[in-house]
Amino acid sequence: MTATPAPASTPQPVPDASTSPGAAPMVQLTGVSKRYALGDTIVTALDNVSLTVMRGEYVAIMGTSGSGKSTLLQILGALDQPTEGTYELEGHDITALGDKEQARIRNRHFGFVFQAYNLFPELTALDNVELPLTYAGVNKKERRERARLRLEQMGLSARERHLPAQMSGGEQQRVAIARALVTNPTLLLADEPTGNLNQEAGERIMELLSGLHGGGTSLIVVTHDLAVGARAKRLITVRDGQVVGDAAQG
Ligand SMILES: Nc1ncnc2c1ncn2[C@@H]1O[C@H](COP(=O)(O)OP(=O)(O)O)[C@@H](O)[C@H]1O
Ligand SMILES: [Mg+2]
Repeated sequence: MTATPAPASTPQPVPDASTSPGAAPMVQLTGVSKRYALGDTIVTALDNVSLTVMRGEYVAIMGTSGSGKSTLLQILGALDQPTEGTYELEGHDITALGDKEQARIRNRHFGFVFQAYNLFPELTALDNVELPLTYAGVNKKERRERARLRLEQMGLSARERHLPAQMSGGEQQRVAIARALVTNPTLLLADEPTGNLNQEAGERIMELLSGLHGGGTSLIVVTHDLAVGARAKRLITVRDGQVVGDAAQG
């Protein structure tokens, strides 16, 4: 996870969520392709993807390994930029913004959860969850309070002082979710969040994600696990870098 402090003087092309209630789609990709040059061959990871996601949706992105799921999630989270096409976030084109602005948008709008948890090993659970608030310039007292609340929400109040190595995989992933949520992001993005977990721990993660959706959080979850995908309210299927299915479910 990358996060850099946003200078106070940065222009604000994307207004705060509270000032633009549900007018534009939360996320709109139009004709997005992503190509990589590998020697003299070009790998097309995403091929002309157009996609609209509204606030409050719970979307699963499914497809076999190599189909382009992670690439799509990285673009949706502004961790990567398309080779072609545009990305509008709440009606504002963010495609051509520079690195600093992209970082600011990531910090402000997105929470990320990865398969391998990506916690800092030398930091306690509480310090890991506080970290994005440190980058955002939130004072110590408020950081503590907000991080504690999120850990409590994830059922981890008894683990505040634990280091990642002193927790199970499922607990570490719940810490990672607490960390992703502590900034109150517009959208939670998860890439194979249960991929390293046993079935029981994975179930618990999925229950928590469903609960977040019930509370109004917008979620996009990448998975190749049918049981995980079945939890979402909308299923997008990708194959060879293209969206080949998009349907409401359950
Ligand atoms: N940095 C990169 N350089 C070259 N090829 C890449 C890179 N990242 C992804 N790819 C290729 O793009 C395709 C889609 O990858 P990815 O989005 O990781 O798929 P998935 O997450 O569905 O397994 C794959 O063929 C992969 O090898
Ligand atoms: Mg992947």
